[in-house]
Order: sequence, then structure tokens, then C-alpha cells
Amino acid sequence: SLQPVILCGGEGTRLWPLSRTLYPKQFIEVSEGRVLFADAVARCASLPEAVEPIVVCNTEYRFLVAEQLRKLGTSGRMVLEPFGRNTAPAAAVAALMEHGGDPVLLVMPADHSIADPEAFGRAVSLGCERAEQGRFVCFGVVPDHPHTGYGYIRKGGAVSEGVFGVDSFVEKPARETAEEYLASGQYLWNSGIFLFKASSYLDALAEHAPAILDSCRTAVANSYKDLDFIRLGEEDFGRCPSDSIDYAVMEKVNSIEVVPIDMAWRDLGSWKSLHDMHPRDAAGNSLLGDVVAEDTHNSYVRSSGRLVVTLGLDNATVVETQDAVFVAANDKLDNMKSVIRRLKAAK
Ligand code: GDD
Ligand code: MG
Repeated sequence: SLQPVILCGGEGTRLWPLSRTLYPKQFIEVSEGRVLFADAVARCASLPEAVEPIVVCNTEYRFLVAEQLRKLGTSGRMVLEPFGRNTAPAAAVAALMEHGGDPVLLVMPADHSIADPEAFGRAVSLGCERAEQGRFVCFGVVPDHPHTGYGYIRKGGAVSEGVFGVDSFVEKPARETAEEYLASGQYLWNSGIFLFKASSYLDALAEHAPAILDSCRTAVANSYKDLDFIRLGEEDFGRCPSDSIDYAVMEKVNSIEVVPIDMAWRDLGSWKSLHDMHPRDAAGNSLLGDVVAEDTHNSYVRSSGRLVVTLGLDNATVVETQDAVFVAANDKLDNMKSVIRRLKAAK
């Protein structure tokens, strides 16, 4: 069987002020009626052979997750992390859950937009056959611009129909490097979606990240039910080192393969990605909510309640929420992290 694992521990801080630590982007409406977490759950449900998902998230998000699952009529297991330890431990606890067999795990982030679920389903079927045989499978998106917020995968030779070896991983390269990668045609974006048998992943952790495996094993052994949630042993999980699946496992194992997917895919992590996803009017603007834009071009202007009026604005982002307003020049949006650092320090 295929066991989907949805990771939704990230804070999504680059979408401030809409996305907040206590109410992150995967749970907000990114555009009308669209919630990324709900999309991810629906995507899993449409895959043949998929059982109900395991959702691994921070304790803080338990009611947001439960509410979304209830709305979708999905049950699924909700595993709560007392602290964020990045994605390698989150996948480890999912692999250590009771499965009644050794399923293939489909590990996927909750913050993606995938325009073509059928193409995604076909890629997953291809990958499943390889994962059943003990391989690690990742999904590489054919890039259409030199994005520096993604990891890149250098594709190797074909190993079977639609599946390739992996020469190397490069996490978030510099601009010039990303441009070279795009021009070479040899590189794919790392989608952050992975397929592997639970046992393959645990074996790889034992070899490459034993401290993660040990602490997650005891955290699961000491986990307990609280309402509909599974709470991990707090002290045990607290001892767990923090690392991503990419660094802890994927870059270390030999039997790694990639399925290229040529489809519109986005990690909706930044205001730019939201603007790119949203339809634009003739002036290149995306206007959401109660907005009047005069002589305004190539701008993303979003109101959550109050009337927002712009005049003579180019290449800008304006986001109004109940308690904060964000105004930025689009060519400076890459520096969002330093804004967040300042806001956190000011608290
Ligand atoms: N449960 C849990 N716990 N989930 C987590 C944690 C955690 O501690 N940390 C992150 N996540 C979730 C996030 O919510 C997100 O859905 C996913 O794991 C990936 O984490 P990000 O923090 O968004 O990673 P990234 O976007 O910087 O980079 C990764 O994804 C890119 C594609 O979206 C890498 O895999 C890149 O190589 C890749 O290109
Ligand atoms: Mg992300």
C-alpha cells in the first residue's frame, strides 16, 4: 500500500503578515477558497492505493489540522511534534508508526501548488515501482527560471522508463549557479517530495543518522493518545538532532533515483510565488479584496478587510491584514528573511 505523509511544520514566515507562526501559510486561504494543506490532502486521496494520510505537525497546529481534515471528511493520523526538528525526524516518526506491513511512504510538504494532479499521480506510480524495490525516489521539476529558493538535482542516466539516476544534489544555489544549471538542461528542481519504503528509510537513518533514529524510536515508543492526536514523547524528541531529509538521507544513499515531472509546480513560500500563481489583469496586477489601483502596474495588492488604494505604484507588493500592513518593492522581496529577523528581535 501507499502511505501518504504530509509534513506541515513550517512557519511560512516569508508570507508575513498573512502567514504567522501561530497560523502559517499552509492553513490560510492563499487565493479564494484555496487552502494549501487541504489541496495536499485531496491530492493524496486521489492516488490509487493510498490509505489515509499521516500528518506530522507542530503541537501548535493541531486544531488547524483537525479542522481541515474534518472539513474534508478525511480521518488520518495526526502526529504532534513538541518542537520543530526539521523534516528528517518528522519522516522518521511516520516511518516508525504501526503500519501492519512495510508500506511505501509518500512524503510531501503541505505548502505546494500542483496544477496537474493527474501528471503527479502518474509520476507517483512510476516511482512506486522503484521504491517497492528498495530505492529512494525523489521528484524533480523541469525548471523554467533560475529560482534560488529551491534545491537542484543533477540528473544521471536513465534507469527505467521515466526514471533517472541522481548525480548530485545542490541545496539552494547562488543566482549565477542557478542560471548555469538552467542553461545546462541537466538539472531539475528538488520538489521536496519523496518515496521510499518505511524499512528503507529506517535502514538509511541507522547508517547515516543514528541519533535521529534512536531519539525518534523512543519518542514513538513513549507516544500517547490525546483526543484524536498522537503526542510524541517530549523529552525523547527534544534530544533529536535537527536535520532535513535531503541532508540527512537523500544526499547520502546510493540507491537514489529521480522521476522528472514537467508540470506547473510551485512552493508557495513567498509573495512573488503568490503573485506568479495569481491571474493578472491587463496592467500586470493581481488585486485581491477591496482594492482600487490607479496607474498601478505589476503589483500584488491584497486587502483582508479595509479598502486599499494605490496611485502610481510599480512592481510593488502591498498586503493589508487586521493588525499589520506590509509594503515592499518587488525586487527586494528576497530580503524578507531579514525583515522577519527584525520583527522577531523586536518582540
Ligand atoms: N512536521 C514538520 N516538522 N514539518 C516540517 C518541519 C518540522 O520540523 N520543518 C519543515 N517542515 C515542512 C514544511 O512545513 C514544508 O511543508 C516542508 O516540510 C519543507 O520545509 P521547508 O522549510 O518549506 O523547506 P524548503 O522549502 O526551504 O526546502 C525544501 O523544499 C524545497 C521545495 O519546496 C528542500 O527540499 C528544497 O531542496 C526543495 O527545493
Ligand atoms: Mg518550502
